[in-house]
Amino acid sequence: MKHMKATVFHGKNEIRVDEVERPRAGVGEAVIRVTLTTICGTDLHILRGEYPVREGLIIGHEPVGVIEELGQGVSGYQIGNRVLVGAITPCGQCAACLTGHLSQCGQGKSYEALGGWRLGNTINGAQAEYLLVPNAQANLAKIPDALTDEQVVLLADIASTGFSGAESAGIKIGDAVVVFAQGPIGLCATAGAKLMGAALVIGVDGDENRLRMSRRMGADVVLDYRECDVVGEVRKLTGGGADVAIEALGTQQTFEQALRSLRPAGTLSSLGVYSGKLQIPYDAFAAGIGDHRIVTTLCPGGKERMRRLMEMARTGRVDLTPLLTHTFSLDEIPEAYDLFGARRDGVLKVAIKP
Ligand SMILES: NC(=O)c1ccc[n+]([C@@H]2O[C@H](COP(=O)([O-])OP(=O)(O)OC[C@H]3O[C@@H](n4cnc5c(N)ncnc54)[C@H](O)[C@@H]3O)[C@@H](O)[C@H]2O)c1
Ligand SMILES: [Zn+2]
Ligand SMILES: [Zn+2]
Repeated sequence: MKHMKATVFHGKNEIRVDEVERPRAGVGEAVIRVTLTTICGTDLHILRGEYPVREGLIIGHEPVGVIEELGQGVSGYQIGNRVLVGAITPCGQCAACLTGHLSQCGQGKSYEALGGWRLGNTINGAQAEYLLVPNAQANLAKIPDALTDEQVVLLADIASTGFSGAESAGIKIGDAVVVFAQGPIGLCATAGAKLMGAALVIGVDGDENRLRMSRRMGADVVLDYRECDVVGEVRKLTGGGADVAIEALGTQQTFEQALRSLRPAGTLSSLGVYSGKLQIPYDAFAAGIGDHRIVTTLCPGGKERMRRLMEMARTGRVDLTPLLTHTFSLDEIPEAYDLFGARRDGVLKVAIKP
């Protein structure tokens, strides 16, 4: 029996690199040899026991690799092809997928909330030497030769998510956009707002390093929430309120500030993952008749989404490599979690090389 090394969740605050059985590709599946992956903020929630997954699960959902094995019924690929797989792996067949809601995929049936997120959630994930890719035909995106693994790994999740915050908001050329929080997701939302044609992008955070990166990713103005009245500043900079506010943290405070930063009939595009109760104060919401739009988005996945994002990298529209601040081997992944979790040493994203 063939074995591999993999990052296994053993309960709250306990992950280990274990020797486990190597996956084999069944019908419609593929196995890839992972060449590069990374750690997501969501993996930290899993590690800390804040997001439940079963013990014994291999975690991680941002894979770049080489096709090692193709199951029956998967066509158009060769062993050895370099591929990117999105964090969200839709089936491509269910009601949700066929109406364009791939992230809420019902796995062959109708709709399931967050059902498209399987890797490192409900099935084994990417922080391993090998990964089983479900519904391979819908999820293997070939990487153009011109692109390195480092240029594409962040497209699987954070770029797809961040950009979707701008896309779901329907940003128009000339819009003024404010993005609350400049973590990896918010930084990609900032880049996405610029790509969508915003005339003014305001990045909000409280970390100097991240505010600097915010400018690099496309913010025209950055605001340190520790040092100013953010809502007042946004209203001043935009002459009365932003067309679009993107929430990229997942707290009551930033959600409320995003809402209060909007002009009448503006759009709040929410990316954050919230816990507990989220409240909408009536005054911030014009008592419910201010023509506001509130939209939420789960990271879009599937091979066509990945192909489009890789085209953006290939043509130089985006370069996310500055966000990959540190590199570790798979054996060193506990240290990588430690550094990433503590946000030490200016870390934004870590590259993990199995
Ligand atoms: N919608 C999706 O599909 C999806 C996917 C991945 C992650 N997420 C969620 O997106 C959120 C952001 O993820 P991340 O990895 O970028 O987070 P992160 O923890 O790396 O970054 C959060 C940032 O928020 C800043 N911050 C803290 N308080 C603030 C405030 N009051 N105002 C402005 N900034 C503040 C911090 O300085 C930090 O830079 C999380 O809730 C995460 O779970 C959503
Ligand atoms: Zn993620
Ligand atoms: Zn589906």
